[in-house]
Amino acid sequence: MRWGTGGAGWGPSAFPFWWGSQLAAAQPGQALLSPAAWGQLRLSVIGGREAKPHSRPYMVSIQFGGVHACGGALLHKRWVLTAAHCFPRSVVGTAVVGLHSLRDHGATTQTFPIRAVCPHPGYDRQTMENDLLLLQLEGKVTPSRTRRLIGLLGRAPAAGTECSLAGWGVRGHGGLSPTLQELEVTVLDTRMCNNSRFWNGDIAPTMICFQGRHRGSAPSKGDSGGPLVCGKRAAVAGVLSFTSPDVTDPFKPPVATSAVKHKNWIRKTLRRGCGSPQPGRTGQTDHPVLFTQVGF
Ligand SMILES: *[C@@H]1O[C@H](CO)[C@@H](O)[C@H](O)[C@H]1NC(C)=O
Repeated sequence: MRWGTGGAGWGPSAFPFWWGSQLAAAQPGQALLSPAAWGQLRLSVIGGREAKPHSRPYMVSIQFGGVHACGGALLHKRWVLTAAHCFPRSVVGTAVVGLHSLRDHGATTQTFPIRAVCPHPGYDRQTMENDLLLLQLEGKVTPSRTRRLIGLLGRAPAAGTECSLAGWGVRGHGGLSPTLQELEVTVLDTRMCNNSRFWNGDIAPTMICFQGRHRGSAPSKGDSGGPLVCGKRAAVAGVLSFTSPDVTDPFKPPVATSAVKHKNWIRKTLRRGCGSPQPGRTGQTDHPVLFTQVGF
């Protein structure tokens, strides 16, 4: 498999993520993964807890060379919502659905090659604006107890809204989490988050700032792309995008890209695919009736 050289030079200078050496050290036996791929491991859960197995059946693990790189949300039997920065070049990945334990996939999972990679056309790797990407799977997920779709939240969550997230990313100083971890978070006021004590103007109107509900808890490396989930009936409000190098810095809280505010793009892409699928593929998708299943 060929790897792009993406990762180095990623993102705004305010939060220069480069986790290569830490992750290489934390992942013995994973030498098949080139250093460039480590740049794709951004955000995981610190101070969270193990999720009840399959209690979040919409969670997807996006993997490169069989190694978890990013989370995602199953919006449709053929489509996964994740972050654009998870695919800095057109790398060849797979999507694993129905997963709890990274090592022991078990009979509950389905693994799909990726048919098309559709980043948001407005994605800006400097400002991290519009950090969304839809992955079209090669094949259809068979829904089951461990594999289910999730819809988008009806409206953007207000400050103070209690939400949650989950991921397989790095916990503390260790490697990737062997099982899915989850974390409760609270949405922060965007104006506050954008002020000079916080992100100082880096927060675009389509971003959502949030913080771990328990002190010192935060998403961390490897959780990028996973959904920020809110509402009594769990629905996707946003997609985990970036944080500061010190993941528990209260003045540089983690940031998600709003999925709600990009609903039109998501809807259009699920219906029509995107213009630049992976080479040799077409962007053909399923009929729009399936939108009803994802709660638009
Ligand atoms: C944050 O501040 C910057 C710079 O002043 C501004 O361009 C941006 O629109 C602000 N974001 C929000 C959500 O108001």
